[in-house]
Amino acid sequence: MADWYEARRYDVLVVGAGGAGLRAAIAAAEAGVKVGLVCKSLLGKAHTVMAEGGIAAALGNVDAKDSWEVHFADTMRGGQRINDYRMVEIFAKEAPERVYELERWGGLFDRTPDGKILQRPFGAHTYRRLCHVGDRTGLELIRTLQDRAVHSGVEVLMEVTLSRLLKDGDRVAGAFGYRREDGRFIVIGAKAVILATGGWGKVYKVTSNSWECTGDGCAMAYEAGAELMDMEMVQFHPTGMVWPPGVRGILVTEAVRGEGGILRNAKGERFMQAYDPKKLELSSRDVVSRSIYKEVEAGRGSPHGGAFLDISHRGAEYIKKKLPSMYEQFLKLADVDITKGPMEVAPTIHYVMGGVRVAPGEGASTVPGLFAAGEVAAGLHGANRLGGNSLSDLVVFGKRAGEHAARYVKGLDRAPRIDDGQADEERRLLLRPFDSGNTENPYELHADLQEVMGTHAGIARTGDGLRAGLDKILSLQERAERMRAAGSPLYNPGWHACRDVRFMLTLCEAILRSAIERTESRGAHWRLDFPDQDAGWGRKNLVVRRGDAGMTVSTRPVPEMPSGLARLLEATA
Ligand code: FUM
Repeated sequence: MADWYEARRYDVLVVGAGGAGLRAAIAAAEAGVKVGLVCKSLLGKAHTVMAEGGIAAALGNVDAKDSWEVHFADTMRGGQRINDYRMVEIFAKEAPERVYELERWGGLFDRTPDGKILQRPFGAHTYRRLCHVGDRTGLELIRTLQDRAVHSGVEVLMEVTLSRLLKDGDRVAGAFGYRREDGRFIVIGAKAVILATGGWGKVYKVTSNSWECTGDGCAMAYEAGAELMDMEMVQFHPTGMVWPPGVRGILVTEAVRGEGGILRNAKGERFMQAYDPKKLELSSRDVVSRSIYKEVEAGRGSPHGGAFLDISHRGAEYIKKKLPSMYEQFLKLADVDITKGPMEVAPTIHYVMGGVRVAPGEGASTVPGLFAAGEVAAGLHGANRLGGNSLSDLVVFGKRAGEHAARYVKGLDRAPRIDDGQADEERRLLLRPFDSGNTENPYELHADLQEVMGTHAGIARTGDGLRAGLDKILSLQERAERMRAAGSPLYNPGWHACRDVRFMLTLCEAILRSAIERTESRGAHWRLDFPDQDAGWGRKNLVVRRGDAGMTVSTRPVPEMPSGLARLLEATA
């Protein structure tokens, strides 16, 4: 152990304090191992709070016909069948118990008149399935889990950024990073590491994601040799704010449409009638986003390039009760009273379906001792996630990752060794922006990469556009070698940005390379040059690996569904 870093040691290190991280930490702690939980900001500020409208679980409280089977089928269909059916089956079966568990732990849900947990409709869910707390469900979930984690003996390290996974041979041995306030380096030895770092929406300019969503876990996993999957699948949520410019991208919850909100174009037409006459506004997110995009392209967009979303017909009392945050958000940020008139909305990057490839049910990545849960993990949502399935994903697979990591730790015959050489190598890489002669501003590079992704890897993609985007990202990667930070690591956001940009550029490359490869349209991946779905591609996931000569992309067969489940899917179509 060297004297230039702070040293910590845990059995299980959880990275990220959103719903998946908290649930994993609780599960590991309850299994009797020592757990450390690291978060980049303060506890309670995770992006989980942006899943506002509810948590999907087939409780059947409002629609008695709902069942895990229908939830399974909806999720597979929503994901356009490239999901890992084994994950979907576990998910649909276990989500109800995870919701009841939240309730037992103090989570407060809205109620039916007879006192059951109330459920609302959401896009592409056959039945009313989203358990909710007004439009603040993610917040309530975090509050509940946070209380539980703190009382389970989980040790929390706040405002710590991790930048490299340390290894002992093939297996994970911990992580290296720094304290954000003063740049002190930290080495955290751990027998197992669970990544729960969420997504990387910040590679796009218009996003609902917070500053934290730079994909740290996914990039670290890739650098440590883990396989990534479905990286081309990036979700546009159909409704983000568009005006004024400073709030562009902020989420307008799908619960507005769940509660009866109607989308109209500049001509006043309810345009979803043309795109999905059956489900209308409650079609899946990929379909609604594309529909808004097409309306704008056809010159029928709202004044600031979106559509109108109107819920005012539900009346002021109802709106203030069911959508209190939306009411406040529009009043305060846009000077719009949504009880009186429509909101202006447009698609915003909200979620990534791709991420670290994990063993279904365990969360184990392809690197021994490295686990992943929640948005950073791939497989559950396939080509498109259904709204509300994220919160249940976090608690179902967070719990499982925590339990499996604890089991893995208990089965080890010796603790992995920390190699100070790896920590020192990363320290030198992190400090490089302070070298004289560097010229590149990380904030400019961040803006540039966002521009590239918005232009070349947005809702509508083409092979030529994606290839041009990849060239630009590769040249930004070269410029990033010369990123410059002024001053010292003390209280230095510019220095933090250098590391964020490095990670984001890796993920941009993975998105673009995968998107080039998938020569079809499926779910969130819409190729204008290949507008149809291709049955062959429907049997393949794309896997990204770090090779000796750089990033590689290859195909992997989608796990074949047993006939019983396949029949179920057809029967509920
Ligand atoms: O629209 C929303 O409330 C988001 C929910 C989700 O992403 O699951």
